[in-house]
This record gives sequence, C-alpha cells and structure tokens, in this order.
Amino acid sequence: MKIRENVPISKLTTMRLGGKARYVIEIEEDKDLAEAYHFAAEKKLPTYILGSGSNVIGRDGGFKGVVFVNKLHGIYVIDSDPDRIRLCAKSGELLDDLVEYSVKLWNGESYGYSGIEALSKIPGTVGAGPVQNVGAYGQEVKQTLHSVCVYDCRDNCFKHMMADELDLGYRHSIFNTGDGVGRYFITSVTVELHKHWLKPPFYTSLQAYFDERGVKEFTPQVVRDAVAEIRAGKLPDPKDFASSGSFFKNIYLNKKQTKEAKAKGIPVWDGGKVPSGWLIENAGLKGKEFYGMRVSDKAALILINESAKSYADLAKARQAVIDIVYEKFGYTLEQEPMELGDE
Ligand code: EPU
Repeated sequence: MKIRENVPISKLTTMRLGGKARYVIEIEEDKDLAEAYHFAAEKKLPTYILGSGSNVIGRDGGFKGVVFVNKLHGIYVIDSDPDRIRLCAKSGELLDDLVEYSVKLWNGESYGYSGIEALSKIPGTVGAGPVQNVGAYGQEVKQTLHSVCVYDCRDNCFKHMMADELDLGYRHSIFNTGDGVGRYFITSVTVELHKHWLKPPFYTSLQAYFDERGVKEFTPQVVRDAVAEIRAGKLPDPKDFASSGSFFKNIYLNKKQTKEAKAKGIPVWDGGKVPSGWLIENAGLKGKEFYGMRVSDKAALILINESAKSYADLAKARQAVIDIVYEKFGYTLEQEPMELGDE
C-alpha cells in the first residue's frame, strides 16, 4: 500500500483543477482496504475514492483527508450458459477495457457478447459505472448490472449487493446519495451479457450513423466501432483536452412541463428529456469562453478547461452558462461531475 502526501488533485483528475490532497493511498488489492480505512480513522480524516478522475472536479482548498486511488485489476468470466455470460471486473479496470473484452469473447457461434457495447470509449473505471449509473447511446449500467462487491467502511466488512438494491436511476444510485456517500468502496462489478445482437431502432445519432452507411448487422463489435467513431468526433479525449465529459445533466420534465416546453419549440425526447446541449447551443454559447473555460464547439454540454487557473474560475464560468440559459429558456442547469475538496 503506497501512501503519498500533499498531492495536487489537479494531477489526479481530468479537469486538471484543484488544490492538494493531504494523503493519497493507492489501493492495489482488496486486503489494502481495511488498512487504508484504519489509517484514515486513526487520523480522524475523511476519505474519498477516485478512479481515473474523469468525473470529479477538484476544488481550490484541496482535500484535508485521504484519497484512495483505485488500482484493483482483473476481469474474469464467472458463469456462462449458451445464451448469456457473467463477467466480473475489478473496479479499477477501465470500463472501456471491459467493453473491449466482452465484444471479443467467443460466444459459441460468433465473437462478442452484447449489453455494454454502446458504453465504448467512456473515460473512467468500472467502479464508477454503478455510482452514477453511467449511460450512453441507449445503454446504461443498470440494464446489465448483476451485482457489486463492496467494502462497507461503516460496518468494516466486505458485502455483496444485488443490482436491485442500488436504487439505480439517471446518474443516480445509493452510492452518490444520502448515507451511501463515502460509505462503500466498490471492489468489483458483475455484469450479465447475452449473445443476441442489439436490434434497431438505436439512439438517434447511432441510428443516423448506421443509416448513412447502410449497416445491417449489429454485432457488438460493429456497435462498439460506431460509438467510438461518433464519440471521437465530438467528445474531447481527456488526454488531449482537460474536461470532465458532460458538464451539465440533461433536464427531465413531467407531462405538464413537457407540453409547455413543446409549445415553446423546445425539443423534448421520449421520457421527458430536454437535451441541455440543445439549450446551451441555442442560447448562443457553443464555442464561447468564460474565465478560461470554453463551451465545446462540437458538443455544447461539455466545458473544456483551456486556461482556467482555479476552481474559482470554473465556478464563475459555470454560473455564466447557467444564468444565460435560465434567462433564455427558464431552466436551471445542474452540474454533472462530482467535486472533491474545500472551496
Ligand atoms: N444537442 C445540441 N447541441 C449540442 C449537443 C447536443 O443541440 O451541442 C442536442 C441534440 O439534439 C442531440 C441531443 O442534444 O441530438 C443529444 O446529444 P448527445 O447525443 O450528444 O447526448 P447528450 O444528451 O448531450 C448524453 C450523456 C453523454 C452520452 C451521450 C450519448 C448526459 C449528461 N450526457 O449526452 O454522457 O455520451 O448522451 O448517449 O446524460 C457524460 O455523462 O459525461 C457523457 C458524455
């Protein structure tokens, strides 16, 4: 178990902002967890779990606590029958590596199991998947999640939890709400995949991609490659640009609100989703820069840190976007990534 001191959060997160974390511990094996939580408890310090830092923004005051960086690795087939398979991945694996593994597995007839192929190229670890029920291009973790193993730092023991105990919703779970925040370290995730290919209709932009190219065979690999190409065209790679993916959540309306929005010409998708990217773009903000943060010119839901010096700059930029969108459309945007540390 490696312990480092006074590590800038900006170096651990893809938005590249934030002051120092007092301690950082790399968790390499499950058995490190009891010792790591004991270390924090002895020092009476709070803890925070980071995967690859692609959905967490560091604040300027730093974190007077212990950051656990998840380095748990391994992907295993744990159960299969002719139609389906269960894969267990340690939570520090990259989600995209699990997807890659699943689309290349022989299923008895052809290569590839289906269920998570549309989650290709999402930056982030497997463990982050259930925390905010990661979703993209028509799939979300909830649809294939079987169970998770966690270390419960309240009861000081490992537990196995079934997917239906996790209250999974849009960017929501027991892990990011109420008493569950900070209580569990997810050590592994089990997904149940099947060998039947996905069928149209697909998520709008994916369907358009297939229609343009006349694609008719939707093997998991074909879907993975399509999603990878769509994402590469508009979502900044954290290696090249400092960002946290979608910076704002989409907005969900009830039936009455949907009617009112449609009457005003605002697009509302099935399930009452108003694409916040549309609101930001139609408020004239695409490509605009505020306090060193730029609204992506390819996908307006994304803020790119071009030259912001601090979290304070980001907070001012965030408020500018929220205010302009509110003034134009009357909706208050909410931030999607989580935050770490003191302002
Ligand atoms: N749109 C615009 N202008 C834009 C961007 C979007 O008008 O600049 C409108 C368009 O109507 C478009 C619609 O918004 O058809 C939806 O856009 P897109 O398919 O790009 O998805 P999104 O709603 O912006 C969500 C997730 C993404 C995920 C995509 C694809 C959230 C907060 N974001 O974005 O997840 O990749 O769907 O499924 O739900 C992330 O969470 O970090 C993330 C990237």
